[in-house]
Amino acid sequence: MKTVLLEISPAAMLKAALSFLSLALVANLATAEKDYDHQLGVQLFQLCSACHGPEGHGKRELLAPSIAGLPEWYLQNQLRNFKDGKRGAHPLDISGLRMRPMARSLWKENDLYVIARYVAELPPKPPVDVLTGGDPVRGEKLYKTAGGGCATCHGEISEQTKKGPPQDYLQDWYMLEQLKKFKYGVRGGAYPKDNKGSPRDVDGQQMKAVMLQIPNEQAMKDVIAYIRQEANKGTLGKKPTQEAATKTTTPTKTNE
Ligand code: HEC
Ligand code: HEC
Repeated sequence: MKTVLLEISPAAMLKAALSFLSLALVANLATAEKDYDHQLGVQLFQLCSACHGPEGHGKRELLAPSIAGLPEWYLQNQLRNFKDGKRGAHPLDISGLRMRPMARSLWKENDLYVIARYVAELPPKPPVDVLTGGDPVRGEKLYKTAGGGCATCHGEISEQTKKGPPQDYLQDWYMLEQLKKFKYGVRGGAYPKDNKGSPRDVDGQQMKAVMLQIPNEQAMKDVIAYIRQEANKGTLGKKPTQEAATKTTTPTKTNE
């Protein structure tokens, strides 16, 4: 009698405990989605603004990109990626290593949701171009062919896809950093490589594959020059707001 109890109860108790835990988690996630508190967003954003600027338009000197107006799904994904070490854990990822602890401070699921929605609602701003030496004509070919064409995932005119983030408000210097990271395995991989348990960045891996067809830094600059040229015309990715569209009529491009 005694032995039977000992054999059954630990396993049964564990099972019961686990199913209770997962039920509780599911319940938490389900309510989290609905609990948007704008004031909490304002509060949480104070931390972000130290690096991403008071309106979320980025600070290049801190390597922090513009995040205002990025889609909520993408913001949530990236914050989770940083939190889980899928992004920003590689020892050579200087800028990602700065962001990772910030995402880890969002330990409540609802905080992560609230800040993602808050940032998604901030108005984006057309960036000032700083890179030089990119050739948009060569870049157009790459844009239309590499990985089956960037638009396959990132979307065409006034389209919002969920296969890739929109490209029209990304800063050129930030894009170059990211393309280099994807190409050289600093983003979009698993670190450490020999640890089978380390989380894999499945979405980022798609970009790694695309980068096989962008041979070097010059080619990266070319494709970025094309993206910026089209973005300045308002013909790339999601449709710019009326205000943004008027601002882009006087582009401050330094590219040829
Ligand atoms: C200590 C400075 C710092 C703070 C504070 C900070 N970030 Fe960042 N963040 C960065 C840097 C640097 C990057 C660029 C990482 C890279 O190059 O991969 C970044 C990248 C990001 C990205 C990825 C953007 C993209 O296009 O993929 C998101 C999203 C983001 N931050 C959101 C936030 C939010 C939300 C907060 C506030 C909770 C925050 N950050 C606070 C420095 C910071
Ligand atoms: C097969 C789909 C696919 C194709 C084709 C593709 N991308 Fe991506 N791209 C993605 C995904 C997915 C992400 C987000 C990765 C992540 O979650 O970290 C991304 C991310 C990026 C980023 C980083 C954005 C940010 O905010 O950090 C840049 C820059 C980028 N892509 C540029 C390009 C360019 C340029 C091309 C064409 C040469 C291209 N992509 C083709 C799927 C694609």
